[in-house]
Amino acid sequence: MTVDHVAIVVKDLEASLDLYTGTLGFTQVYRETIADQGVEAVGLEAGGCVLELLLPLDETSPIARFRGDAQSKLHHTAYRVCNIEAELARLKSAGVRLIDEAPRRGAHGNRVAFLHPKSTQGVLVELCEPRP
Ligand code: CO
Repeated sequence: MTVDHVAIVVKDLEASLDLYTGTLGFTQVYRETIADQGVEAVGLEAGGCVLELLLPLDETSPIARFRGDAQSKLHHTAYRVCNIEAELARLKSAGVRLIDEAPRRGAHGNRVAFLHPKSTQGVLVELCEPRP
């Protein structure tokens, strides 16, 4: 398995960019609005993986409520798959609870789907099929 990205939900994106690109020295590789997830996302290069900062576009959304008053909080880990429909079907038949029965659109046109944290020991897991 390959980790595609690790996502952190933040409260103040510019302050988080100051920390990650300024103080810590990460390089920004993309910044885009992901309408399907209701977030602005910034990707930071992290050795073949990406650290993704997520700013909720709506402070009443579930992701904003998950973060609460924290400055930032680990939101999900994402694993790369070749065929997301096949992997969702395999996991569903193995009894894994799915948040997304069908893929939705992630950053830069990737196809993504979330598994329910009740089936993944409390950490939200995303499957990610990179755009060909
Ligand atoms: Co993600």
